[in-house]
Amino acid sequence: MQVPYLVTPPPGPRARAILARSDRAVTPSLPRAYPLAVRRAQGTMVEDVDGNRFLDCAAGIAVCSTGHCHPRVVQAVQEQAARLLHICGADFYDPLYVALAERLGRLAPGNNSKKVFLGNSGAEAVEAAFKLARYHTGRSQVIAFLGAFHGRTMGAVSLTASSARYKQDFRPLVSGVTHVPYAYCYRCNYNLAYPGCNLACVDYIENELFTRSLAPEEVAAIFVEPVQGEGGYIVPPPNWLSRLRALCDRYGILLVADEVQTGIGRTGKMWAVEHWEVEPDILCSAKALASGLPVSAMIARDEVMSWPSGTHGSTFGGNPVCCAAAQATLDVIEEERLMDNAARVGARLMNNLRELAAESRLIGDVRGLGLMIGVELVKDKETRARARKEANQVVQECFKRGLLLLPCGPNSVRFSPPLILTEAEADTAFAIFAEALAEVENDPGCEGEWP
Ligand SMILES: Cc1ncc(COP(=O)(O)O)c(C=O)c1O
Repeated sequence: MQVPYLVTPPPGPRARAILARSDRAVTPSLPRAYPLAVRRAQGTMVEDVDGNRFLDCAAGIAVCSTGHCHPRVVQAVQEQAARLLHICGADFYDPLYVALAERLGRLAPGNNSKKVFLGNSGAEAVEAAFKLARYHTGRSQVIAFLGAFHGRTMGAVSLTASSARYKQDFRPLVSGVTHVPYAYCYRCNYNLAYPGCNLACVDYIENELFTRSLAPEEVAAIFVEPVQGEGGYIVPPPNWLSRLRALCDRYGILLVADEVQTGIGRTGKMWAVEHWEVEPDILCSAKALASGLPVSAMIARDEVMSWPSGTHGSTFGGNPVCCAAAQATLDVIEEERLMDNAARVGARLMNNLRELAAESRLIGDVRGLGLMIGVELVKDKETRARARKEANQVVQECFKRGLLLLPCGPNSVRFSPPLILTEAEADTAFAIFAEALAEVENDPGCEGEWP
């Protein structure tokens, strides 16, 4: 199937009609990246209601890991839907819930045995981790990172710090959250460079925060994205995560890895923490876990999952159809070797982008792991002033040319395609991106910013 293939400049007439209906009927709070109204999708192809076909390098925000409507996932969903739609795995015993918990417990990093809570969304997994960390440690405070995105429910948004807009006008939030700088080497808070910095950002927590403001004995958990997602697809330097692990161990603090965006093979390994051989105490997963069906998991070491019956649950969490889709997804990822594909195709795409960066006026940084790749745009390579509008404009120009991408952070563009992306498709995506970038470099007629 040839993608992209545009029959009319998007948005076409049918899409525009849906946009108008949406304006009247749907909450205006949704961010809306560009006017894409979808009819169907298959593999890496998304078709809009006017018949335009796009190459999808957004995957519904890093969700459709096995590609859209993978036949094995569809079959698993159809068969399970005919057998049992719902029973409530919280009040009764659903064998599919149990089997998925067993499998995720085995897949989770490290040798310790694990227990699993299933929810419906990334935010729900994060909320569960927040509550469990407080319950298990008896401590009230948590640490998260500037630039973090952990979701938009009250607890999760209290941990989030990627955009002030997510919190403004919603206070008071959940108390007890302190944010510290992430290991964002391209914009180091301490104006240092790795490895000479000796990870001053970790020392700051121990030597400044813990001595002046927040006693470590009060801290239940550190929440961390092993690669920061919405904040700008930021890959921390080697040793950073293991230094955090050691810090947690010194003070009895739980390390919570939010792998909602990084997990299930996206970075070329099942979990991003595996790149640094770090075992978190709690791991949150969602997004790609069931190729598009809503299921999330909060996975904790046995002794950490210490809360008794009745303290936490969810009506729909671990729904049988979603569990069946998750099992099929994990089968496909393993049997079709999608993690190897993500590593190989991701490396090729990143190399091409790095070569482009050398010639481009706007590209300040290219970073990523596997098929989680961020391109940060700057107005000036010396000052690194953020090219916010240009980043959004590049995404719009890609859309007009039939490539689906999303922005991330204030001034970055992310590639988060299905893990089945071929080398040829990666080359097509790259060519369109380069053309869109050139257009913006020549004529930055900007169309606003990502929220
Ligand atoms: C790292 C991370 N955690 C949590 C969430 C929240 O997930 P959801 O939108 O499913 O609630 C996201 C969503 O982008 C995320 O990237």
